[in-house]
Amino acid sequence: MSIEKSYNSWASSYDEMHNKTRDLEATVAREILGEWYYTNILELGCGTGKNTQWLLDKCDSLIALDFSEEMLTKAKQKISSKKVVFNQQDLTKDWKLAPNSMDLITCSLVLEHIQDLNLIFKKSSEVLHKAGQFYICELHPFKQYSGSKARFNTGKVIQELEVYTHHISDYTDTAFKNGFKLIQLNEWFDEDNRDNIPRLVSFVFKKVI
Ligand SMILES: C[S@@+](CC[C@H](N)C(=O)[O-])C[C@H]1O[C@@H](n2cnc3c(N)ncnc32)[C@H](O)[C@@H]1O
Repeated sequence: MSIEKSYNSWASSYDEMHNKTRDLEATVAREILGEWYYTNILELGCGTGKNTQWLLDKCDSLIALDFSEEMLTKAKQKISSKKVVFNQQDLTKDWKLAPNSMDLITCSLVLEHIQDLNLIFKKSSEVLHKAGQFYICELHPFKQYSGSKARFNTGKVIQELEVYTHHISDYTDTAFKNGFKLIQLNEWFDEDNRDNIPRLVSFVFKKVI
């Protein structure tokens, strides 16, 4: 099943099912971005809008992109605001956004589904204005090495999604190549227990060119 179709069928249960990765990422986003206010935010892979409403309180306007019609439908059912535009958009295709127009891009739990990181960093660098920030939070590659991946229960089977492993240096090297500087890297653990493998890794990059 394609990634898009998988998310279409996951959409109805995504918010309700037990999901430590989803919940920990919500905490991470709030901890990392909590103290800032932005003019224009671009949210890549907004899904059912887990972070969208919260981000809306932190900006003047927000564009939320996702290719899954059903995930977007869920988000739109929950969120109504003049400040937000939801666009059905494959992130690997042309985003049709003005260059240098955003001051924050967020990308939560999306890049494991995108093979070519360079494509995303290149487009992000184009639409961010100088000194704009790029927040990324993903399943930690250590988790990926040990076999973790996005999966959900369809009611009949456990459906595993197509994923790609990105090493920490893949993120940083690709960011540097596209004119970003790393300003924050954190690892996040279940119950904050640092004896475990970290569940998530987060980055904040700043556009410096
Ligand atoms: C695990 S969900 C995360 C949703 C939300 N960011 C969150 O943290 O709950 C991944 C989302 O990325 C979207 N996605 C994956 N690959 C994509 C692509 N190539 N273009 C657009 N959206 C994509 C999926 O449709 C899905 O909504």
